[in-house]
Amino acid sequence: MVTNSREHFGSRIGFILAAAGSAVGIGNLVGFPVNAAKNGGAAFLFIYAIFVFLICVPVMMAELSAGRASQRGPIGTYKHFAPNNKLWHLPGVLAIITPFMITVFYTVLTIWIFGYLVEILTGNLAAMTNGDYFGNFINSKILFGYLLVVAIFVGVTLFSGVQNGIERGAKIMMPALFFMLIALVIFILTRDNALAGVRYYLVPDFSKINASVINGAMSQAFFSLSLGMGILVTYGSYMERFENIANSAKMVAFADTAVAFTAGLLVLPAIFSFNPNTNTEELSSSSVSLIFTFLPQIFLAMQDSIGYIGASAVAAIFFTLVFFAALTSLISIIEVPVAAAIDQLCVSRTKAVTSVGLAIIVASISCFVSFGMVEFFTKFTYYGGADKSFFDVILDVFYDTVLPLNGFLICIFVVYKWGKNNLSKEISDGAPEYENSFLQKYLNLALGTFIPLILILVFINTVLTKYFSISLI
Ligand code: PHE
Repeated sequence: MVTNSREHFGSRIGFILAAAGSAVGIGNLVGFPVNAAKNGGAAFLFIYAIFVFLICVPVMMAELSAGRASQRGPIGTYKHFAPNNKLWHLPGVLAIITPFMITVFYTVLTIWIFGYLVEILTGNLAAMTNGDYFGNFINSKILFGYLLVVAIFVGVTLFSGVQNGIERGAKIMMPALFFMLIALVIFILTRDNALAGVRYYLVPDFSKINASVINGAMSQAFFSLSLGMGILVTYGSYMERFENIANSAKMVAFADTAVAFTAGLLVLPAIFSFNPNTNTEELSSSSVSLIFTFLPQIFLAMQDSIGYIGASAVAAIFFTLVFFAALTSLISIIEVPVAAAIDQLCVSRTKAVTSVGLAIIVASISCFVSFGMVEFFTKFTYYGGADKSFFDVILDVFYDTVLPLNGFLICIFVVYKWGKNNLSKEISDGAPEYENSFLQKYLNLALGTFIPLILILVFINTVLTKYFSISLI
């Protein structure tokens, strides 16, 4: 039953900031610059942007429309449009487990970022550049305290509901984030040698592009826009009928890509200004080692020109920026199981946030002790030729493998079960110009054909490479 009491976003800009808050995350600020640096700079950006607009925006519109039409999160949406077909309820379940598990690993990253921010503010930037600092940090008991602080931040926002919590939080944190990002870029670009980094970033090198880079660009775009996690279905269910889904999706995608691009203008020039002879081949592909071991060195090196306090201030602004980006993403993803509990179990928001929150806290603790604190979680399982920690498993299974599968399922569901006509009708509500537009024709063609095909190929390729060490491409 569709109830009228469902909460809604209070304004268009509120929705856009909340959805952009979900999309802009660690993936944009760190993942994208590293990928671009290693894979041909502007050439990577070009391929990435094509994927964002030709593949991700249509999927985003499909997710938002399905959610707004059903007035439910993903689990309710699959049930609502396929009430008698139990098989279609399975993707709904997967669409709840996925955000839950992604939350777990993202929470761990967020508490590390928060911990680093606290350490910088207490004068420890220099200590962070010691080789064994990060290893000790992730095994220290203080993480329990940081977890508590992050849980309180996220919990208070979610308790306060869609308008007073999620929307208000995004309205404060997102403008602050844009401002800090621009200020840092201006500061970095005025450092010596920064232009070498800009040149490296913006001069395209198409010779670096191969099948696996293309696959990586696709996965990066999909993750960065928060697709396949049920977030946009849930946020769609909080959208008013008169809102324009097509324009909103384009704006969110544009904002997300702009932040990723700008983050590249920050991170690469900073690296080159630190060492003009940087060989980007050597940059680790992992965002984790970049944020936690490499960037502190770069910030510390700035003390020669701006002093230790100045260098610590720049580092603190950077970590606050990443922390805000991570918080708004975390809030959006936890809202998925919260909304599911409210819709499916008919419990109050307070009860839903408390029980989902407790489950996430327990699972996140199991995850952050998997770096050595607890043997069972550290050597959780074995595949692909190596021991895998609980953290590795979540990353491999949910982030790398299941996301494209969820994307595939939602496309097939929307086009072949709910129906293209219903999708068109839903989008036209609030966007009358959509009827008979080029965009409509494109969506009707692409969402039922090559978009799901590409997503399922990414899925199959990942399964074969990750778990069977067979590479298709
Ligand atoms: N879009 C986010 C990012 O780029 C991904 C994400 C969203 C992760 C929501 C967790 C929760 O980092």
